[in-house]
Order: sequence, then C-alpha cells, then structure tokens
Amino acid sequence: MENKKVILSGIQPSGAMTLGTYLGALKNWATMADEFDCYYMIVDMHAITARQIPAELRKTQLTQLATYIACGLDPEKNTLFIQSHVPAHAQLGWVLNCYTMFGELSRMTQFKEKSARNAENINAGLFTYPALQAADILLYQADYVPVGDDQKQHIELTRDIAVRFNGIYGDVFKLPEPYIPKIGARIMDLQAPENKMSKSAIDDGGCVLILDKPEDIMRAFKRAVTDSETSVRYDLKNKPGISNLIQIYSACTGNTFQEIESEFSTKGYGDFKKSVGEAVVETLRPIREEAHRLIADKAHLESAYKQGAEKASRTANKTLRKVYKKIGFIEP
Ligand code: TRP
Repeated sequence: MENKKVILSGIQPSGAMTLGTYLGALKNWATMADEFDCYYMIVDMHAITARQIPAELRKTQLTQLATYIACGLDPEKNTLFIQSHVPAHAQLGWVLNCYTMFGELSRMTQFKEKSARNAENINAGLFTYPALQAADILLYQADYVPVGDDQKQHIELTRDIAVRFNGIYGDVFKLPEPYIPKIGARIMDLQAPENKMSKSAIDDGGCVLILDKPEDIMRAFKRAVTDSETSVRYDLKNKPGISNLIQIYSACTGNTFQEIESEFSTKGYGDFKKSVGEAVVETLRPIREEAHRLIADKAHLESAYKQGAEKASRTANKTLRKVYKKIGFIEP
C-alpha cells in the first residue's frame, strides 16, 4: 500500500459529464485502484472561475460523485472528494500563487480560450487557476495525473512551479507526469467531429451525456454526421465522423477497428450508426441505473465524500505543514 504510486485527477462540476469523459477518463480511472493510490476530486473551487447557479452547482456535484461511483470508482478503494472540503487546496494555492509568474499564466492556452469566450468575466481566479491546479496535484505528491491533451500545459506548469520551489527549499514536491491514455482519449462531437465532445457545445446535439436516456442516445447517433462515401472505414483525416463512431464502438464493445470494419463491410451507415447507438446505450445503462439509485441515497453519498475528505486531508496537510515550515511561517 505505502509503495504504490499516486494518481490524482479532477473534473469540474460545471455541467453533466459526457460519454467522452466516461470513455476517455472514468473508465480508465476505474481500473487503476489496485495498482495505484488514487485520488479523484470534484473541483468546485475551479468551477467558480465561471459563474455558477448555486443550486445547480450543489446538484451537479452530488450527481458527479454518484456517477464516479457508478462508473466503478469504489469509494473504499479510491479517495473520492470535493476540493473545497480540503482547505489545504486553498492554502497551498495561495502560496503557489507567489511562486508562479504572471508571464507563465499569460501563456496558458486555456486561459486565453476561456477569456476570449467569456470576455465579461475575466476574473483573477480564472487567471491563477493553474496555480490552484498545481496545489491540487502537489499536495498529494502525485506521480501521475491522467488528463486530456488540453491539460498537458497545466501539468508542465505544475512541474515548473515544483522545480522552482524545490530549488529554493529542497525536495518538498514530487514532480508529476501527465498520464495520457492512448486509446479512447479523444471522443469527438457527433455533429462536429473536428471538435472534442464537450458539455459546453451541448446545443448542437453532438454531445452524449453519461446519464442520457436510451432514446436520446439513439437519436444522437442516428443524426451523427458521416461523409459522402458508404464504407465503414477508419480514416481520421478524410472520414472524421465515421472514425469517431468506430472509436466509440470499439471502446464500448472491445472489438478492434479491423473487426468493426469487417462486421460492417456489407452494411450501410444507417445500420452502423444504429449499432453504435445500441452499444453505447448498453454500456451506459448500468451506470445510469446505479447513479440514479445513488443520487436518491443522499446519506450514502454524504458518507462517501466525508470519508474521502478526511483521508485526503491527512495526506494534504502533511505536505502543507512542510511547505509552511520551509517558507518561514510559524506553526500555530
Ligand atoms: N483543469 C482541469 C480541467 O479543466 C481540472 C482539474 C483541476 C484537474 N485540478 C486538477 C485535473 C488536478 C487534474 C489534476 O479539466
């Protein structure tokens, strides 16, 4: 137990989680508990860098926790917690703000994108978001951080901050590495397959949510964009829509791309899209049912997040105490 490498990741409770998040992240996370010491957060403090409706934020968090568990993240084997329940995140976040340069933060692609998209609320929290993320990671001395491509830059910055801090005070922080799974990592939007499937683009009908009803899932796949050919063949460059569907079908059934191509060699796109829809429905059905059962059991969710926060706090406070001591704060 003690020698296991540490994995840490988090998802913002800024909306419902997508099929892409399941196939690209949660499904993999659920296989790691035996090999690694795993921490998975709901990053509510990051979520408020954009304006949230309080009642919805509360509901989204509980649904997210229920979905984590329903996807196979056993709260006994993983540390599942809500970021704001562990004050050390805010505390170390502040300290790291003082070891993160304005120029570094200005170069973050996600900041540039988010501020371009939301020009009326470019708040300081949005700007210093990566310093808080660095605190999330460094508090647990994480070895690996499973994230999508878009987060690589934040992990690199986390390493730079850790190197800077260690250079001044000695070895305080472990240097984390991004952990980017090769397959299933990038599920694309069904209507615009050049974009990653994302909850912020929900309106085009190209995004499937983990808790969507079967009829909604079937409709989304029926309408999925394809191309003017007729063959089910993986070709990411020329056939992004069909290639995305092949990826999804492969992730849900375990069949290889080749097996899928031959299964549908004599069938049309209509049949293929229907089969992909059905495979997704069957993959998500047990998750949806279990999540709804858990959402109704508030007491169970509450005990899961309390237990998670307690365990996370023990680890996080150890690092925080060490940092405070190193920088010259007096123990209270
Ligand atoms: N920034 C991440 C995202 O938007 C969420 C996040 C916050 C995170 N803290 C983290 C991911 C720590 C990994 C580790 O997806």
